[in-house]
Amino acid sequence: MSDYGFDTLAIHAGAAPDPTTGARATPIYQTTSFVFDDTDHAASLFDLQAFGNIYTRITNPTTAVLEERVATLEGGVAALATASGHAAQLIAFHTLMQPGDHFVAARQLYGGSITQFGVSFQKFDWHVDWADVTDPASIKAAIGPKTKAVFIESIANPGGLVTDIAAIADIAHEAGIPLIVDNTLASPYLCKPLSHGADIVLHSATKFLGGHGNSMGGIIVDGGKFNWSASDKYPSLSQPNDGYHGMKLHETFGEIAFAIACRVIGLRDLGPAISPTNAFMIITGIETLHLRMPRHCENALKVAEHLKAHEAVSWVSYAGLADDPSHNLMKKYSPKGAGSVFTFGVKGGYDAGVKLANNVKLLSLLANVGDTRSLIIHPSSTTHRQLTEEQQTAAGAGPDVVRLSVGLEDAADIIADLDQALSA
Ligand SMILES: Cc1ncc(COP(=O)(O)O)c(C=O)c1O
Repeated sequence: MSDYGFDTLAIHAGAAPDPTTGARATPIYQTTSFVFDDTDHAASLFDLQAFGNIYTRITNPTTAVLEERVATLEGGVAALATASGHAAQLIAFHTLMQPGDHFVAARQLYGGSITQFGVSFQKFDWHVDWADVTDPASIKAAIGPKTKAVFIESIANPGGLVTDIAAIADIAHEAGIPLIVDNTLASPYLCKPLSHGADIVLHSATKFLGGHGNSMGGIIVDGGKFNWSASDKYPSLSQPNDGYHGMKLHETFGEIAFAIACRVIGLRDLGPAISPTNAFMIITGIETLHLRMPRHCENALKVAEHLKAHEAVSWVSYAGLADDPSHNLMKKYSPKGAGSVFTFGVKGGYDAGVKLANNVKLLSLLANVGDTRSLIIHPSSTTHRQLTEEQQTAAGAGPDVVRLSVGLEDAADIIADLDQALSA
């Protein structure tokens, strides 16, 4: 299957006609649990001696199609789906971290991730240091003996800047730790972080993978190359596991050990499983990813060029613009386009941003990206309001910043709506 082109894989990877009914679309297996052949069969499933379905919190056949499809599109060896992007982050770190451990994350991240890492993760005694993703040396400087991972976004939300994945992967690997890349804003259509040295890819599938603003989901993709037993840093993977009669997951499962550990420990015990119906919706969305993403990028470029020349706009940060500081990195990592989420600054600061957001008619004022519809938000009064002004500015979400997620409507209509709202 993986010999096919991206467009074919977006439609077919992981799916086959249903063997019982012949159903061609992936059925929604809306069931909590699966009948065992007998107690020996059940024992082999519970002991991880055989692959099969037990309970939808751990695996489900509809969800399995989504998992195989995204693993294939990203070039990974295995994946698991979760209830949301934040759930994917929680489970990935739960697999890597022990109490007292530390990781390094880009300062330029989705505001919800900054809060999850900086506030909620503290309750697990997991600690984060922030580094400037445009300065890989600052990432290196923040790594210490307890650091278990580096976390970046391929295209940062909301700043829209493209990160130097290969340079940061080298820094992580020199320290013997994996690089995790949140590829939500690029999607595997635009960027494949594993091919640039990343070890784990995460998604909020809520965004471009699903693509229609109707279903929550998250994905963890295991690149399969990291050696979890090279040090004693990752006991969940390299050491005997109490929950599985002393089994060592890396020794037993080899290249898919990280995905297995996320499933049989994190998903099993923390519990944020995706619903089969949401998995079905996201599978359906992925089948047009290769048609939607070029149009998202084309519309975003037209809107960015228009705003750049607008008298009420002081700056535009869109890597697709030839003079943008991220443009060269975009040509390397996301050559088919810079995605459709970017920021610009309104003259008049916070108040002007609020006024613009309150005056759009076609665009929707809401806290999401990656919808067919064009979306707008003023982060400092909404998504990033929990952060200090200093954190907001560092995350590319200062008081004058407005974020757009350019949708698939006529570009002229999106531009006309922004024009009338800016003139207000
Ligand atoms: C880049 C990025 N990562 C992760 C998340 C969290 O995903 P979810 O909302 O599906 O939990 C978001 C949400 O906006 C996001 O934009």
